[in-house]
Amino acid sequence: MLKAFKKTAATQIARVEPLGVEFEASRGERLLSAALRHGLEWPHRCKVGSCGTCKTLLISGEIKPQLDFAYVLTSKEIDEGYILACQSILKSDVSVRIVHRKERK
Ligand code: FES
Repeated sequence: MLKAFKKTAATQIARVEPLGVEFEASRGERLLSAALRHGLEWPHRCKVGSCGTCKTLLISGEIKPQLDFAYVLTSKEIDEGYILACQSILKSDVSVRIVHRKERK
């Protein structure tokens, strides 16, 4: 398992399934920003919550959305647990699954 962090009280851990890759996000840091800082290839384009390219399935844990995901995601996707990585601050350790282009609807 690849770990790219040193857990402290000021960090949350994001685990990317099914790869088992883990990285840390600093307090207040967005999921996409933390992933890119650690060199992960995470699908993204706008980074401001308008394109939906960073759509990610939140498997477990809690995030704080920085905008209303309903502008980009359907209510069904939100109910299923999808989030926008570029607009999500971790409130706890999380497990997520990146949605790759071929899986997009
Ligand atoms: S990168 Fe465009 S919505 Fe997140």
